[in-house]
Parts: sequence; C-alpha cells; structure tokens
Amino acid sequence: MAKTATLKIDDQELELPVIIGTAGEKAVDVRKLRSTTGYITYDEGFGNTGSCQSEITYIDGEMGILRYRGYPIEQLADKCNFVEVAYLVIYGELPTPEQRAQFSASLTREAPIREGMVRFIQGFPRGAHPMAVLSSSLNALGAYYSHIASNNHQRDLEYFDDAAAIALSKVRTIAAHSYRVARGKPLNYPKPTLGYAENFLHLMFSDPYSEYVPTPEVASAINLFLLLHAEHEQNCSTSTVRMVASSGANLFASTSAGVSALWGPLHGGANQAVLQMLNKIHADGDDGSKFIDAAKNGKARLMGFGHRVYKNYDPRAKIIKGSFDKALESLGITDDPLLDIARNLESAALSDDYFISRKLYPNVDFYSGLIMNALKIPEDMFTVMFAIGRMPGWIAQWHEVASNPKSRINRPRQIYVGPMTRDVP
Ligand code: CMC
Repeated sequence: MAKTATLKIDDQELELPVIIGTAGEKAVDVRKLRSTTGYITYDEGFGNTGSCQSEITYIDGEMGILRYRGYPIEQLADKCNFVEVAYLVIYGELPTPEQRAQFSASLTREAPIREGMVRFIQGFPRGAHPMAVLSSSLNALGAYYSHIASNNHQRDLEYFDDAAAIALSKVRTIAAHSYRVARGKPLNYPKPTLGYAENFLHLMFSDPYSEYVPTPEVASAINLFLLLHAEHEQNCSTSTVRMVASSGANLFASTSAGVSALWGPLHGGANQAVLQMLNKIHADGDDGSKFIDAAKNGKARLMGFGHRVYKNYDPRAKIIKGSFDKALESLGITDDPLLDIARNLESAALSDDYFISRKLYPNVDFYSGLIMNALKIPEDMFTVMFAIGRMPGWIAQWHEVASNPKSRINRPRQIYVGPMTRDVP
C-alpha cells in the first residue's frame, strides 16, 4: 500500500501522499493542501521544498555523494572529459564513439558567433564585468536564432540538438570574447582542430603575434574544472533556469537568467569572492586566524565554506583539491602566500567547534579560485568559467521542463504581512 502522511489541522485530518525517489528520498506531496484546507506551506529559502522530480543528478549531502545520471562524480572525473560528461548530462547516457564524434562536430560547427553578435559584444564598455556580457549575450542568441527560440516548447524541442550545441559551444566563445573586449584586446576565432578546453584557452589567450598553447596539465585542469561544475540539481541558478523555462521561455532566455543567478557571491560568485578574501587577509598581514574569529563573531563570512545541501565535504572540493597539488607542481608553483592562508583557514575551520557544529566544510569554490589563479585565469572570469561548466546542466534541466507535458508554471505563494486595506487620504 502506498505510504501517506497524516496532517491534523483545525478540525480536519488530511492524508497526504508520500513520494519516494529511486535512492529512497522521501517527500510529502502537498499539492492538494491549499485547495483542501486553505493552508499553504511556508519554507523561505526552499530548504525543505522539492520543486520537481528530476532524473538528472543525485546528491546525498549528508554522505557527500554526487552522481550525474547515476554515475559517481569521482568515476566521471577519472575516466571522462567535459564534452563526454556534457553529453551524458544532456542526453542521459554516455556517448558511443559515433555519438561522441557527431556531438564534437556540432560543437565545432557552432563555435564561431555571427559578426553581428561580435559587434554587439564589442559594444560593451571596457571594464564591463564578463558575467554581465555573458548573460546579455546568451539572451541575444535568441535574436540570432529566432526559429529555435520561439517560446513554444513543442517547436523549440524540434531543434533541441541544435539549440544545445549552440548554447554549449557559443557560451565559451562569448565568454572569451567578453574577456578580451573588457581589456581592449582583439578577438580570436575558434579553431576547429582544438578540443573544448584548449579552444577556450586559445580564444582567451592567443594574440595575433603569439599563439597560446597550453601545457597538457593546464588543459586537463580546465577540463576537470568544467566537468566538476557540469550539473548540481536544484541550486539557485538551476532553479532559476527551470523557473524561467516553466513560463514557456526558450533555452537561451532561460540559461541567460541562470547566469545572472549564478553571479552572486553566495552562489557561483563565491569563487571570485574566495580569492578576494584571501588577498584581503594577506594584505592585512593576517595568517587567517583573525579572519576565522571574525567569521565566528558574525563579522565576516568564510567564503568557499558551507553549503545548503552538503553537510559533509563537498565531493567536488575533494577532487579539485586532489588535482590541485599536481597542477601546481606542473606549473612550478611551490610557494604561494595565498595558498598558505587557504590551508590555514581550512585546517582551522575543520577543527573549530563553530564550523564543526554547523557542519561547514569547504565547498567546490574554496580551491577552484586558487587553481584558476594559478592557471592565470583572471579573477573576473572565475564565475564565467563556472557558467561555461554549468551549461550542460542548465540545458538538461530546461529540456526536462520543456518536454514534460504536465509541467506547470512555477508560481509560489506568499504570506502577506503588509497593512490591511486603508483609504487614500
Ligand atoms: N562562514 C561563516 N559562517 C557560516 C558560513 C560561512 N561561510 N556559512 C554558513 N555559516 C553559518 C551561518 O551564519 C549560520 O549560523 P547560525 O546558525 O549561528 O545563524 C549557519 O552557518 C547556517 O548558515 P546559513 O546561512 O543558514 O546556510 P545556508 O544554507 O542558508 O547558506 C551558503 C549556504 C552556501 C549560502 C552559506 O554557507 C555561505 O554563504 N557560504 C559562503 C559562500 C559560498 O561559499 N558559496 C558557494 C556555495 S557552493 C557553490 C554553489 O553551488 O554555489
């Protein structure tokens, strides 16, 4: 017999269905609550609210488990590259060699952006934050590919493969262009011979008089960074993508909104904020201990620590930290004061009761900023890199909304606490 939960409210007793996920996650289905009782649930920050059923990603925050489409993140990081994982996240299965070749060919085909869009990006002022340019430009893709961005999900789904390749490939080109425009540098064109990560580095760092060729270690560190960020279920930006998609909006509009949500320092912007924090601690002559005290007294926030879902080590942080030493060794970096501060902060926090009792562990952003810094990725590009990595997840989540015939517009309710009716004097 299906399990139910009983709710007693006023003089009513209500049987609420229980939904159980494939990994045993349990939810009380309150969809009929308001129509039967007049009550709604209240859950500011949505910490206890399931907004959808999804087949894409599984997280067990207590155990520190992350799986894309059932595959543990550790195995994917070890055996696959970003493009293969992107295919898995978007289409549900790892690609066969033929599918892999076809997918890569479509990414190569879609790498350049139209000249009109190049001019659009060049129109942004010097010094513009690349996240502002990225969000605007992704939305602008809807203007350049209007037949794919009709805001009719049935029609847009007919072109889904094209739209997915456009979003995944062009996000990298737009990101690199935004970096070069912000610095007044000439733009590079993508090279069909290069892999995804190598092409991104070429677009960013090649100059007309000197081609940038990354070491294999650098290319593989970028690849790993992107792979680890590919998807992460219903976080702030992904929920935003689904929220926008739920109104019927197209893939480009929805992912553009995702970029805006990602930008904030409590979410993807944390990787940039971590580096700024470490630089400030260094400039203040602190070894990290004063900062830890400030965080415990509520006067500062230890960026790169804590997570709404992980109450254990973020598994992505473990992997990235593991690869970190290798990357530093290959780059010949042995002595970095910021790294020392980061290590001090980590060990102090992991042994301090304030952090232990609140289950605050390093998250993916704690070490990723340092890695990108070591790889010479400029600070304002850190969150952009996160957005490139997250694109497969946003595409897959958009598809889940668009292809679900039972999908309803997302429209939470509220508890009004303003004044009662009053008359204008
Ligand atoms: N430093 C110091 N104290 C913290 C921190 C932190 N980084 N994070 C949480 N706390 C404290 C918080 O003050 C609260 O204490 P108390 O119970 O005494 O009021 C308690 O821990 C619970 O925190 P919360 O703010 O209710 O937790 P949340 O689930 O709402 O927020 C978070 C999660 C990630 C926004 C938060 O931990 C944070 O701001 N971390 C720093 C920013 C960061 O690294 N964000 C990246 C997240 S991972 C990448 C991604 O997916 O976006």
